Amino acid sequence: MRREQTHYSKAWYNALSPYYDVLVDPVQGRLRGRGIEYLGVSPDDRVLDIGCGTGRGVATLQNAVGSDGQVIGIDIAEQMCQLARDQLDDEDPSVVVCGNALSLPFDTDSFDVVLASFTLELFADDHRTTVLEEIHRVLRPGGRICVISPTTAASDTISLLYTRLNDVFPTLVDSRPLDVSTVLTNAGFGVVQTHIEWVLVVPVELVVAHCGLRG
Ligand SMILES: C[S@@+](CC[C@H](N)C(=O)[O-])C[C@H]1O[C@@H](n2cnc3c(N)ncnc32)[C@H](O)[C@@H]1O
Repeated sequence: MRREQTHYSKAWYNALSPYYDVLVDPVQGRLRGRGIEYLGVSPDDRVLDIGCGTGRGVATLQNAVGSDGQVIGIDIAEQMCQLARDQLDDEDPSVVVCGNALSLPFDTDSFDVVLASFTLELFADDHRTTVLEEIHRVLRPGGRICVISPTTAASDTISLLYTRLNDVFPTLVDSRPLDVSTVLTNAGFGVVQTHIEWVLVVPVELVVAHCGLRG
């Protein structure tokens, strides 16, 4: 089952990659930019962008940290990774890692900041728990995370509709809205800021949280 999610997402985002910036980024990019503002990244921060897509979040974060910090993007879809590398035009190939958020290839406490923009909703509950455990492991205690995802916290009707659509068209929709604040709290993060914004009929939650001490 775990392999299936990865398989679906990989195939879907590889196919979508040439069109992603034109079709999807105009909507998601605005919210991602706002989430990065909320994170208040410092010049020497080490930042991880989970499910970095075509690398636009990585580029914004690189500008925020400057040469004293470090930004790494990770994505499961090779074509997304390749586009990100091409668009970033960074001499360091390790800036974009092709890998799986279910098993992050980074040491414990490696990062000060994590961004997960329109990524956590791709995972079913058990996988999402694993991804959050992995984020908690690689983020230092007190580090910050920003999650931007379609939320169940604003409308039961839309959430139900979204869930049904995902059941019927799992590859096409590939999205399960979540109560972002509650999910982060249950995973050991301390929520410090939440904001809900509607994208047409879809409520999207932006949440900034601190990484709690490991139990
Ligand atoms: C909706 S896109 C969001 C891209 C970007 N974060 C943004 O804000 O535009 C989700 C991304 O997550 C990636 N992804 C899906 N499953 C993943 C996994 N298991 N590990 C790493 N990346 C994954 C997809 O390939 C895709 O590029």
